[in-house]
Amino acid sequence: MTRIPLIAGNWKMYKTGTQAVAAAKQLADLADGVNGVDIMIAPTALSLPLVAAALGKDSRIRLGAQNIYPGKEGAFTGEVSAEMIKDAGADYVIIGHSERRQFFGETDESVSSKIRAALDAQLIPVMCIGETESQREADKTFFILDKQISDGLKGFDLEELDSLILAYEPVWAIGTGKTAGPDQVKEVHGFLRNLIKEKYAEALAGKIRILYGGSVKPGNIKELMRLEDVDGALVGGASLNPEDFNKIIRF
Ligand code: PGA
Repeated sequence: MTRIPLIAGNWKMYKTGTQAVAAAKQLADLADGVNGVDIMIAPTALSLPLVAAALGKDSRIRLGAQNIYPGKEGAFTGEVSAEMIKDAGADYVIIGHSERRQFFGETDESVSSKIRAALDAQLIPVMCIGETESQREADKTFFILDKQISDGLKGFDLEELDSLILAYEPVWAIGTGKTAGPDQVKEVHGFLRNLIKEKYAEALAGKIRILYGGSVKPGNIKELMRLEDVDGALVGGASLNPEDFNKIIRF
């Protein structure tokens, strides 16, 4: 089973609309001619329609949101629905990023309802999972990942999960400059693929894309992408600079 790699850039709360448009255009120029890889950037929701208009409908660079509210519409001051994100020009949405779990109280249950909302709006969910440093030290990594998957995907059937993408992001590696070593990444990605096989089906396990995230840089992407079960990367800091991100997508 060949899985087309996805390199995704999470711009977090960086770049104004003007800066986001400029960076996206620069990236589109730099990435011209790159083949065999899907590319996604996730600017703030506010910048999505601007970047979508600047890149155009047929751009190689696809867009994602960093979060959605699970409800369809209603009196939810300050929130943005999946349908609004889709209408703004995104194809993907990052769900359950560790910063959302850590600072905004997201749980496996809210992750589950956001995945439901994303699928209903035909957005591709990029579901983030990962253990903290203390959980790893306490030997709870696999227990935590199993729980995040089991609770986050509770109630979904096989067909519904067809478009799902997983992103393994060890919390201790995000924004810290500490990347998980190849053996650690290999072990966890293998574990996750096997978990999907056991809980769902071999066919889904064979096709699901599992990204790695946490201090991915031009200097370590090659080594990560060489690992059998790594199907791409979710890049934070290094995605903000179009030249660095271009080097990453050309791994
Ligand atoms: P980082 O962030 O690449 O800056 O470590 C990764 C992420 O938060 O997805």
